[in-house]
Amino acid sequence: MKLLVVGSGGREHALAWKLAQAPRVQLVYVAPGNGGTAQDERLANVDITDIGELADFAEREQVAFTVVGPEAPLAAGIVNLFRSRGLKVFGPTKEAAQLESSKDFAKAFMKRHGIPTAAYETFSDAAAAHAYIDAQGAPIVIKADGLAAGKGVVVATTLEEAHAAVDMMLADNKLGDAGARVVIEEFLAGEEASFIVMVDGKHVLALASSQDHKRLLDGDRGPNTGGMGAYSPAPIVTPQLHARVMREIVLPTVSGMEKEGIRYTGFLYAGLMIDAQGNPKTLEFNCRMGDPETQPIMARLKGDFSKVFEHAIAGTLNTVELEWDRRTALGVVLAAHNYPDAPRKGDRISEIPAETADAVTFHAGTTLVDGKLTTSGGRVLCVVGLADSVRSAQSIAYETVNQISFDGMQYRHDIGYRAVSRKQPN
Ligand code: AMP
Ligand code: GLY
Repeated sequence: MKLLVVGSGGREHALAWKLAQAPRVQLVYVAPGNGGTAQDERLANVDITDIGELADFAEREQVAFTVVGPEAPLAAGIVNLFRSRGLKVFGPTKEAAQLESSKDFAKAFMKRHGIPTAAYETFSDAAAAHAYIDAQGAPIVIKADGLAAGKGVVVATTLEEAHAAVDMMLADNKLGDAGARVVIEEFLAGEEASFIVMVDGKHVLALASSQDHKRLLDGDRGPNTGGMGAYSPAPIVTPQLHARVMREIVLPTVSGMEKEGIRYTGFLYAGLMIDAQGNPKTLEFNCRMGDPETQPIMARLKGDFSKVFEHAIAGTLNTVELEWDRRTALGVVLAAHNYPDAPRKGDRISEIPAETADAVTFHAGTTLVDGKLTTSGGRVLCVVGLADSVRSAQSIAYETVNQISFDGMQYRHDIGYRAVSRKQPN
């Protein structure tokens, strides 16, 4: 069987790598893919991004099913289009993807269905937004309504920063249409976790828990990024918390969408903030897997993932049980010079150590130039180590990191620090 994964990041490399391990999978196409997917002989890059052309390709190549990685093609309706042409695909429709593509839609939806989240108001008028900020005080969080490639959220610690964020989005229109409306919400303190599930329209299958590191620098300092590293499992997600998140957040979301006439299918990612008392609130929904969370999660998943997708597409996820490697997987992102502002491209990358039973490197912003691996994006690689403890997984990942180099390479040295220092829950 031949499969298609849409996207070009570390998430898509990890999904394709996992899918290709199944003996019955002959080839996994990745569109457009990256330097790493180009080098793996079980994978083949396809230089197409237009969703209509992707549907033509899937039909022509008799692809058994397609998995969509990033949010942009989902918001553009790739799932609607594939289904209308009778092609099997896993992902949310354009309508369902509004949970991610419009923060205002997601917040209003959560309010209607009593799903725990930060208090908020939505504005398109700058003066009203400024007045609201003055009335609420800082810290406060300003979010562009639309998709802004990770640049749409400002966690303002001062009133000045908050006003500047409103001006940037509403007055100066720096984010275009995405920032034409802003959600202004209550600041939530606590620890974040990523809770990702697969949904077939009715049934929900939870993946292993994970935690991302959004800030660029050690100790959670510096600007927000797409993610500098992640590990799975996240010890903060105890079995009790897991049950609560399913009951209070995930299941009401899927049933709430159904009640509103939108059947949710695809990955659903709830970004959680867990307060000091252990209460979870939803920071955001993503309609896709996380990047870099996917990399450690795929490194731990056992069995034939292609069968899981077949059940997900057929609506029989209730019959699936996932098996996980008991070890911790920890992924360190190697980013390009000047990431996240204006990452430099074109730096030559040293040889990548071969995959072993406890270390694997997934590619993201890489490409082959004259057969040589070269940087082509902000997040370049994600190096994953697997071991019985978080600390050992860290050592293995960083030992591999130390064997890789390119000009301007930057990474965090403390991925997993919260899990290392976490006391056993009492
Ligand atoms: P989002 O894209 O909505 O997940 O926001 C990006 C990041 O901003 C999150 O991962 C959090 O670190 C932070 N953030 C978002 N909303 C809030 C909030 N209400 N309180 C505190 N931090 C937040
Ligand atoms: N790692 C965060 C995200 O994928 O949105």
